Amino acid sequence: MRVAVTAPATSANLGPGFDAFGICLERPFDTVVAKTTEGEGVTLEISGVGSESIPSDPRRNTAGRAALAVMRMSGFRGGVAICLKKGVRPGSGLGSSAASAAASAVAVARLAGGLPVEKIVEAAAEGESASAGEEHADNVAASIMGGFTIVRSVHPASVIRIWPPRFLRLVLALPDLYVSTFEARKILPRRVPLASMVGNVAKASTMVAAMMKGDLALLGSAMEDSVVEPLRAKLIKGYGDVKRAALASGASGVTVSGSGPAVLAVVDAKRASPSKVAAAMASAFGENGVGCETIISKVGRGAAIKAR
Ligand code: HSE
Repeated sequence: MRVAVTAPATSANLGPGFDAFGICLERPFDTVVAKTTEGEGVTLEISGVGSESIPSDPRRNTAGRAALAVMRMSGFRGGVAICLKKGVRPGSGLGSSAASAAASAVAVARLAGGLPVEKIVEAAAEGESASAGEEHADNVAASIMGGFTIVRSVHPASVIRIWPPRFLRLVLALPDLYVSTFEARKILPRRVPLASMVGNVAKASTMVAAMMKGDLALLGSAMEDSVVEPLRAKLIKGYGDVKRAALASGASGVTVSGSGPAVLAVVDAKRASPSKVAAAMASAFGENGVGCETIISKVGRGAAIKAR
């Protein structure tokens, strides 16, 4: 039996929703082709963008570890051969490791005869720990389920999905810089001041209300975060200039995408031009001597089974 699955890039945190919020892009995406084999366990072949930097030992790879988690959870006996084609650049802040884990978990769950979607998210989060050093489900939930996702808990996985207003555009500026999620998590404080917690709860709640009301100005204005963003901004040369440029050209809100270095701008396509925002962000990185590519995307619908 054989199945092919695509799982798209995602942007996690969206400011105050650290490790809880995620939003799905339409592209780029990773592709997994998984087949049952006569043997036992998982074999893994990797190709595509940045594949040379990714471990191919299934236990140290997010796709391999997610597959093993699905097999354990479903009681699947037998072997699985996985071909992973990377489309999301590793170390980008666009949920590259999560896209691999998500595609693999969805594919192997199909080979195993099916699993509830939240179990698939939980398995993919276990896979994510191979790269981040600890489990978090914000990227995998958005990549699997699409839309804007809120992870209520990882074990057991519990996720709320909201479909954002259709005029929301995600503009990502991806600079020629590399940030390791593992390192970008190590710099974060283990304790935060009560006032910061109060501020982030207020802003995160406002963002959920704004998504449901379709108020993208309100959404963007609440995307500020006083805990994680200031520390991670230091890892992204030119971040302050890029943020200012995006806001000045009409973005509703701007923040670090996941652990960076990509920068996320949310744009209301009824009021501002996403391509103008993208150009302003690229030009601000350029003025800081940093090359960058930009992505303009609608909100994506999540992982898709392409063929059997
Ligand atoms: N929530 C995660 C983080 C996303 O910010 O570390 C990156 O994988």
